[in-house]
Amino acid sequence: MTESAFIHRFEPATRAGSPPLLLLHGTGGDENDLLGLGKMISPGSALLSPRGRVLEHGMPRFFRRLAEGVFDEADVRRRAHELGDFVSEARQRYGIGAPVAVGFSNGANIAAALLLLEPDVLAGAILLRAMVPLSDAPTADLAGKPILLLSGQGDPIVPAGNSARLAALLSQAGASVTHRVLPAGHQLSQADVTLARDWIGNLEAKAA
Ligand code: MLT
Repeated sequence: MTESAFIHRFEPATRAGSPPLLLLHGTGGDENDLLGLGKMISPGSALLSPRGRVLEHGMPRFFRRLAEGVFDEADVRRRAHELGDFVSEARQRYGIGAPVAVGFSNGANIAAALLLLEPDVLAGAILLRAMVPLSDAPTADLAGKPILLLSGQGDPIVPAGNSARLAALLSQAGASVTHRVLPAGHQLSQADVTLARDWIGNLEAKAA
C-alpha cells in the first residue's frame, strides 16, 4: 500500500517544536474537517489529515460498523493497520516525527485501535468522544504515552461506562491518561478546544 491510497491533506509545520498532528474526522467528515481544530489547538503544527476509506451510505468512516456502537472488529483491525502504514509512509514522504492523533468520534475510535494494535505509530493522542474499539484488545505497551480522553456527560452514543473502560484499558497498558467528562453531548464544545490546547501546550513544554 502507498500513502496515496488515502486521500489526505498535509500542511507543513510553521513553528519548530510543535508536535505533528494526525487529524481523524468523524463519520461523514473528510480530510478538511479538522484542519481548523488542529490549528486552534496547536498553531504551527504540521497537520496530516486522511479521509476514512470506508463508506457508509456515502459517508466516509475509518472502519465498518454493524450498527451504531457495534463494530466490525475484523475491519477495525485491518483498517488500523492500513492507517498505521499510511502514517509511516507519510512520515517519510513529509519528513515528520511520530504524530499526536486528534480524533473525533469514529476518528477517535480508530486512533484508540491504532494505539492498542500499533503502539509505536503515535506519540500520543487526543481522543474526543471515543469508545472501546475492540472487545479483545491485545496487551499493548503504551508506557508513558500521553493520552487525553474527553467524554461528554450526556453523550447518547458513548455510555459513561464505556469511556471509563477505555481510560482503564489505556492506563493498564501504561499510558499516561487524563480523562475528563465534560457537560456536553457527542458534539464538541468550547471546553474540548480549551482543554486540548492546554494539554498540547504542556506536552510541548515538557518536550522542550
Ligand atoms: C463509531 O461508529 O465509530 C461510533 O459509533 C461513533 C460514530 O461514528 O458515530
